Amino acid sequence: TVVEQPSNSAGVLPTAKKAPSKHITVLYASQTGNASKLAKKYGEQLQKFGFEVNVSSMSDFKTNALKKLDHLLVIASTHGEGEPPDNAIAFHSYLYGKRAPRLDHVKFAVLSLGDSSYEFFCKTGQDFDEQLEKLGAQRLVDRVDCDLDYDEPAAKWFDTVKEKLQEDQVSGQTLQEAAPTVLESSVQYTRKNPFNAEILEKINLNAEGSNKETIHLELSLENSGITFEPGDSLAIYPKNNENLVSSLIAALGFNAEKSVNVEGEEVTLKDALTNLLEVTVLSKQVMQKIGEYTLNDDFHALLADRTAFKSYTHGRDLLDIVEKFAPYSWDEQNFVNVLRKLPARQYSISSSLAAYPDEVHVTIGAVRYELEGRERLGVCSTHVADNLEIGDHVRVYVQQNPNFKLPTDDKPIIMVGPGTGVAPFRSFIQEREERGAEGKNWLFFGDQHFVTDFLYQTEWQSWLKSGVLTKLDLAFSRDRAEKVYVQHKMQKHAAEIFEWLEQGAYFFVCGDKDQMAADVHNTLLHIIADQGNKTEEQAKEYLENLRKQKRYQRDVY
Ligand code: 2AM
Repeated sequence: TVVEQPSNSAGVLPTAKKAPSKHITVLYASQTGNASKLAKKYGEQLQKFGFEVNVSSMSDFKTNALKKLDHLLVIASTHGEGEPPDNAIAFHSYLYGKRAPRLDHVKFAVLSLGDSSYEFFCKTGQDFDEQLEKLGAQRLVDRVDCDLDYDEPAAKWFDTVKEKLQEDQVSGQTLQEAAPTVLESSVQYTRKNPFNAEILEKINLNAEGSNKETIHLELSLENSGITFEPGDSLAIYPKNNENLVSSLIAALGFNAEKSVNVEGEEVTLKDALTNLLEVTVLSKQVMQKIGEYTLNDDFHALLADRTAFKSYTHGRDLLDIVEKFAPYSWDEQNFVNVLRKLPARQYSISSSLAAYPDEVHVTIGAVRYELEGRERLGVCSTHVADNLEIGDHVRVYVQQNPNFKLPTDDKPIIMVGPGTGVAPFRSFIQEREERGAEGKNWLFFGDQHFVTDFLYQTEWQSWLKSGVLTKLDLAFSRDRAEKVYVQHKMQKHAAEIFEWLEQGAYFFVCGDKDQMAADVHNTLLHIIADQGNKTEEQAKEYLENLRKQKRYQRDVY
């Protein structure tokens, strides 16, 4: 969309020249929508500045358009262990492949989004930045890698990009910014401005004797105007555990009441460590900053050895580090400056607005384990489990997940969700029941024991009875000598699963990423190969096609 230049009454172009229409393409690699929102926002702003802009998901971008590209902005988030998001996989491998063209005619800039608690922080953005340069493209501005709290660094990046783009215009031209758009009057609840939701219900879904504690939490969204769709997540702001914070302050030898500055706000050290800053996750970023305050050789050896770093930091927290590698040369303020802001934790929503208007339900597994004689607590899950009661409030916002969505039609769905992975499927079934959707629904659920761990048992059973749920297969792993997992149940029903897929079924997986989701993926490949008489290669292609059609969707963590 070009800013139209009106001709004057005589049909002659006005003397004020139109800015040369440098074309800017903004491509996003996005899993949960943050990168796509930024891309659209920046695209709109550039348009207002008079640029000709095209904003596109990487999956919709035609690679032959690369030949005609002049300016390219890439906004990329990183998924899981450094993989590109689903919508970027194909473009990413195209750029790295033999068929990738030279891009000497392209000027580019990359913004990467990520989470520094993952080892391959911002890897996808880094990949694009490196590969575009290798293909001959010229970098307009340096890449910026953003952590979860991305607004500020992203805005700074965009400002420098804008300046560069303007410099790139024919000299003597200054582009006028259009009038600001009118802000919407209603409050929008976001990461920066969360909604304070009242807890309406809190139940431990596991029966006595279980090894697990799974909290079913119902929150009120009344008067918030918040909406969400099945498949979206709810982000909940936690607090750090009081005992952990006081042990940490004691180990540091600091004064809990000392005033510190956190992003312009004066608070006590105790308040900062309880409410504002992350003290559990040991990312590379935080450890590197800590390294500036200790000369301890063991600490620096650890930083230099990737494998040792990974295995040591796994499951440990800041208190371990403070105790093990003393002395440190920091004071209260230096220490606070080392830490990143405490991010909200995300949980798959387990209710549908159609079934429970003005409410949102989540299903939270309490994380507790012991290491080196100290009990370790999952920050948000145990905050919810131990400190919050019905009537209390928590700060929340909705995180959309465009990559985990029910089909809009009545196509059959197969859902695999052991443990808390079952959460979004409760939302799916509620939604389909409310909508009166005709599609067939098949759930594979698993957990340790039938008697204590069958999450939402009565709900599934009554949906099965009423026919909303077509099939229910259960895998209780510790009720008998040999393990039974969801993928074993899938294998047992291989023929029918393939039949459903051939009928156009969507296949959803939610839950543990490293083991369960990988095993389910391989089982699915086997089923496709066996039942469809395909080679391994063909089965992979079949599954890849499902993924491209959004018929194989995963929400794994
Ligand atoms: P387990 O703990 O007895 O090994 C939910 O946590 C369920 O997932 C449990 O029954 C758990 O079994 C099971 N589980 C563990 N590893 C799994 C895997 N690789 N694939 C599928 N399910 C798994």
